Amino acid sequence: MKNIDRRRRAVCMGMLGGLAGLTMGDAARARPTIDDAARVFRLDGGAVTYAFGVNPDGRLQTIYWGSALAPDDPLPAPAPVPENSSNETSITVTPFEYPGFGAGLTVEPALKVTFPDGVRDLDLRYVGHRIDGERLIVTLKDVSRAVHVTLAYAMDAASGILSRSAVVENRTNGWIQVDQMAAASINLPYDDDYRLSYLTGRWAGEFALQTRPVGPGATVIESRKGVTSHQANPWIALSRAMTEEESGPVWFGALGWSGAWRIGVDMDSLGGVRVTAGYNPFDFAYRLKPGERLASPLFHAGYSGDGFGGASRLFHRYQRTRILPALRPRPVLYNSWEATEFAVDEAGQMALAEKAASLGIERFVVDDGWFGARNNSKAGLGDWVVNTKKFPNGLTPLIKRVNDLGMEFGLWVEPEMVNPDSDLYRAHPDWVIHFPGRTRSEARDQLVLNLARKDVYDHLLTVLDRLLGANNIAFLKWDHNRAWSEPGWPQVPPAEQQRLYVTYVDNLYKLLGELRRRHPKVEIESCASGGGRVDLGIMALTDQVWVSDNTDPYDRLLIQDGFSRAYAPAIMMAWVTDSPNWVNKRATSLEYRFVSSMQGALGIGANLNHWNARDFTEAKRLIAEYKRIRVTVQQGDLYRLISPQGGSARSATLSVAQDGNQAVLFAFLHSGGMRDPAPPIRLRGLDPRKMYGLRTIAGGVAPRTPKRASGAYWMGQGIQPNLAGDFQAAAIVLEVA
Ligand code: GLA
Repeated sequence: MKNIDRRRRAVCMGMLGGLAGLTMGDAARARPTIDDAARVFRLDGGAVTYAFGVNPDGRLQTIYWGSALAPDDPLPAPAPVPENSSNETSITVTPFEYPGFGAGLTVEPALKVTFPDGVRDLDLRYVGHRIDGERLIVTLKDVSRAVHVTLAYAMDAASGILSRSAVVENRTNGWIQVDQMAAASINLPYDDDYRLSYLTGRWAGEFALQTRPVGPGATVIESRKGVTSHQANPWIALSRAMTEEESGPVWFGALGWSGAWRIGVDMDSLGGVRVTAGYNPFDFAYRLKPGERLASPLFHAGYSGDGFGGASRLFHRYQRTRILPALRPRPVLYNSWEATEFAVDEAGQMALAEKAASLGIERFVVDDGWFGARNNSKAGLGDWVVNTKKFPNGLTPLIKRVNDLGMEFGLWVEPEMVNPDSDLYRAHPDWVIHFPGRTRSEARDQLVLNLARKDVYDHLLTVLDRLLGANNIAFLKWDHNRAWSEPGWPQVPPAEQQRLYVTYVDNLYKLLGELRRRHPKVEIESCASGGGRVDLGIMALTDQVWVSDNTDPYDRLLIQDGFSRAYAPAIMMAWVTDSPNWVNKRATSLEYRFVSSMQGALGIGANLNHWNARDFTEAKRLIAEYKRIRVTVQQGDLYRLISPQGGSARSATLSVAQDGNQAVLFAFLHSGGMRDPAPPIRLRGLDPRKMYGLRTIAGGVAPRTPKRASGAYWMGQGIQPNLAGDFQAAAIVLEVA
């Protein structure tokens, strides 16, 4: 194993020559560096280098991905890994950039097609390359048939995060069927101690962090559900045994796709580890007529030498600057769902709005139940007209009252769904995803509209456009409460029906994009029974995400820690709700609930009719405090100082403002034992020379804690929060003073 490793590393790392005759690009724009003679491509950004080239067989092969190399380091054209035996032929152990299923490939292909004559062999060879703005475009073609593949590479200059995607085009005279298609294959440097981290879950238990060693064989994380899913999230990180929270290498990536997806991490028989991410090949088929194309989603991949914390800070920054449509501090919202469920009406909502406004809430959101015959989950979904029994004069009086109280108005919708008991379904029973003559399986009494159909798309655009045009709505909470079933599309020929998996999501993105274009001031939250649709695809078209229906503040610490591995606090909604919690019945103080929710974008989801005067006073104070720290919390650098993973009794996070002038420490105690040692929490990321004053928002600090000290002091000596008992929390602000 060791010899093989050394040989392969030498081949992969290019020890044999120099990258001569470079056309060095402008580093600030991360322009690729291309060695035309050697046919080697190199992307540099942040502290990262990614390099690949054309091997002597004309196949595209990875050379390097990791910490930045020096500009003139040797990167010769790659050579295929020599055959180990007739059982490990070269083709199947060489790290390719985008291998077709063909020529004997038995590891995971990036692309697999079927031709009308039954041939299922695809051998992609380099044809050419060009620079298109900030992207490097490389074209490949099958050895003999006119199947063309265009690969796009773009590296973010600041973070070194690479985005990759592919387009396959049928230039043959007949159809070809795409059976499997990835955005990218990405090869890790050869090493034998990788660990894979990923996020799994279920309803009310999203973003659970999993870690396992990478060994021979494959790990597949996926959604077959037509939506991103709670069950697994399309993010992975690969680390080495030495990697810790703030040190050591981490390679990470996330797929920007809100439909059925798969990420495979597999180790070939000689120890090469590759990541293949794209459409889920399960039940997948996309037939291309002559001249047609299919584009993959984007896969975003990064590297950090600064541990898991460094990796997530890099990725958060990338999301803030490259993915999110706009970056504005999240307004503090109130949502009445947990207070009223479906029992919404004008008087009740107005009363809640008045109470919410008195707290300093900035956005008031009416959840489910305002439309059609919607009194429970059984009816009305699909009928996006105001229920006049509940709102006799439409939404206008409520919206006006909310606006007069100084708040924006937001509304819940679930556009992709329909109850069979609805006017929409009675008029268009064929609009749902189904197979003719087969049961249409319901979940939460609802069916999924086939958004791949143009008439469904047009209808939803018209209805939502009208809703937003007629009312002063600043915000939509866009829900999606069930997985697909019986994924048929009977209106199109059988050979085209499985296009559903792609066309549905394409149309969802188109719909969101068009609504944003027509109503640029409206913000949108992605919700799918909590965090079932959080991914970089939907994030590019929405402003925030609902992370989980589980609003228990302790459970949330774990969910939020898992979420933060992949996604930015800038979009992470977190509500303060009632105690005991409706899901798990845990009782916690209002202060603890606030501090837990302050880790993200704060919302209130409690029944304000049950609050007493003291609750109002405390909540008002904490909301005012939150507004002073929210930019740091949402858009600062996050340090997971003590992770709650693994059931740790204590946990703590620190957010440091981009200018380094403010830092916010949140510390939690699950349950204190008698005289348990509680070492001070040592901060990170401060400017050691600046003087920071300390202010406590919630909880307290040990008696002799100084009121003012240098960044060096807070990082070296630390802070000791005064936490004793069960479910205790402290929120401490440090400001340059
Ligand atoms: C889903 C959401 C909840 C709420 C309900 C309304 O479960 O996750 O927040 O909006 O739908 O029916």
